[in-house]
Amino acid sequence: MASARVDLDGNPIKPLTICMIGAGGFIGSHLCEKLMAETQHKVLAVDVYSDKIKHLLEPSSLPWADRIHFHSLNIKSDSRLEGLVRVDLCLCKA
Ligand SMILES: NC(=O)c1ccc[n+]([C@@H]2O[C@H](COP(=O)([O-])OP(=O)(O)OC[C@H]3O[C@@H](n4cnc5c(N)ncnc54)[C@H](O)[C@@H]3O)[C@@H](O)[C@H]2O)c1
Repeated sequence: MASARVDLDGNPIKPLTICMIGAGGFIGSHLCEKLMAETQHKVLAVDVYSDKIKHLLEPSSLPWADRIHFHSLNIKSDSRLEGLVRVDLCLCKA
């Protein structure tokens, strides 16, 4: 069970939506695992490949299924990133 995280003033940290570019890599995949297992934060996972985080994305019955969404794109040649972040921010405010 994830324990409540607090900031330096001892106030609970509200769940954030984190845009993680490189989520399918070494550091990103381990960070995604920690975020899903130990926090209530959401992750907008962006990478060309998802092999290393497949176990976090499927099956849809996973307890964090609604908190991690993977988008396969190359940020160098794909202009969708800005739109994805904007949509996610709008969903968070709703
Ligand atoms: N077993 C180990 O100890 C081990 C294994 C791997 C890496 N490492 C170390 O970890 C560090 C690197 O880890 P990392 O996570 O930064 O690198 P990484 O290469 O594992 O991850 C980077 C991720 O970014 C993605 N990416 C790159 N360019 C992109 C683009 N234009 N658009 C979208 N996605 C893109 C790649 O597909 C990749 O999944 C190094 O220090 C390395 O030595 C250690």
